[in-house]
Amino acid sequence: MSESQPGAPVPRHGLWRNQWIFVLAATGAAVGLGNIWRFPYITGENGGGAFILVYLVSVLALGMPIMMSEILLGREGRHSPVTTMRHIIGRLGKSRFWMLIGWLSVITGLFIFSYYAVIAGWTLHQTTEYAGQITGQVSTDDAKSRWDAFLANAPRLILFQTAFVILAVLAVGGGVKKGLEVVTTWCMPGLFLLMLVLLAYSAWQGDFANGLTYMLKVDFSKLGADGMLAAMGQAFFSLSIGMGSLMAYGAYAPSNLSITKAALTITLLDTLVAIVAGLIIFPLVFAYNLEPGSGAGLLFITLPHVFDTIPAGALVGTVFFVLVGLGALTSLIALIEPATAWLVEHFNAKRLRVAISIGVFCWLLGLGSALSFNYWSKLYIFGSMTFFNVIDKLTANFLLPIGGLLIALFAGWVLPADLVREQLRLGTVGLAIWYWLTRVVAPIGVILIFISSL
Ligand code: TRP
Repeated sequence: MSESQPGAPVPRHGLWRNQWIFVLAATGAAVGLGNIWRFPYITGENGGGAFILVYLVSVLALGMPIMMSEILLGREGRHSPVTTMRHIIGRLGKSRFWMLIGWLSVITGLFIFSYYAVIAGWTLHQTTEYAGQITGQVSTDDAKSRWDAFLANAPRLILFQTAFVILAVLAVGGGVKKGLEVVTTWCMPGLFLLMLVLLAYSAWQGDFANGLTYMLKVDFSKLGADGMLAAMGQAFFSLSIGMGSLMAYGAYAPSNLSITKAALTITLLDTLVAIVAGLIIFPLVFAYNLEPGSGAGLLFITLPHVFDTIPAGALVGTVFFVLVGLGALTSLIALIEPATAWLVEHFNAKRLRVAISIGVFCWLLGLGSALSFNYWSKLYIFGSMTFFNVIDKLTANFLLPIGGLLIALFAGWVLPADLVREQLRLGTVGLAIWYWLTRVVAPIGVILIFISSL
């Protein structure tokens, strides 16, 4: 398969080996804690079915067209989002206002990374717990009190956060291709498989009827405008769109990649993993009389109930949290790829050095999130929101949708149609649909949800 058309510009940071690797890597960026940890707990905080409905509509109507726009911009520019935007704007003689897309990609990525590494660390903690159980150290405490004890232990949170920052820095610093390609090819299928096993268990032992009703029952009185904003934010977060990560990945995509098919595959897999995660967690929540709206600890309290009771639970628990941790790692890498690629271009610096500097910055910022679960849990920055809550909401509910809005407006209204046609290679009808979604539906959708939440 040809990787690049003869005469096409050689991307500054290399190319994915083929189009499948691109799809896998982008799926690796999309599938992560957002699906398995964030989706169930945010759904729980927002009352279930109606939230999921708005989420699904956002994924299709706003997420898909924006994802396609990002990939096409990246493949057109073949550089970091900042440089890509600078080149495209320069060539077309457009306003520098659109550079905002590039800058947001750098800033939002660093913000999300900072707290994402903390939560990724939680999976490592659970891994060590279950690996310990295999070797015989069984705690007699129940899952909830063990979890509360862990969250209170700031040094331990920071230790595991540090581990993930180091792993991500090494992967990005060493050049994404080898580490990332291997991790995604092996781990994503493993994660899918294990989730199916857990789904079967939850259907068998959980309160599946109540869990399913909770997810399917659409009651908008429980949602409200904030819930709609959260659902849209979750769609952007889960698909990894709105901050140029897929633009950066698209820059390394081979010319023969079908952007439409790729975006469709990534979106489907990502949504499927989130729904299955919900179908695993909620039946267990009801079976164990837990509170669905209990917040960020949800995944880490419900599943241990399972692993504590099933045969070979320690082994299953270990494998599961390792896989979730690897899913988190593939997302962490994508979060700092835009900033890394840009600094490498800008200072002509060594990748590893750049990655280390970014890692240190994000680590420091992440301390605020790690401490939000213990020493600073009563330090409210805004209303009753901790530092972690603020960074999480600011990025998912505001920066990502704003970034997505700008990307849709730029791709839909500013880019010349022949450039779009050449990149997307859609038929007349397909192109018309894409234009309609990108120009009208996605921008109006984002703006409406913003307005209603004010
Ligand atoms: N989609 C990731 C997840 O669900 C989180 C995420 C948001 C992300 N934006 C991103 C990952 C950008 C990589 C790049 O876990």
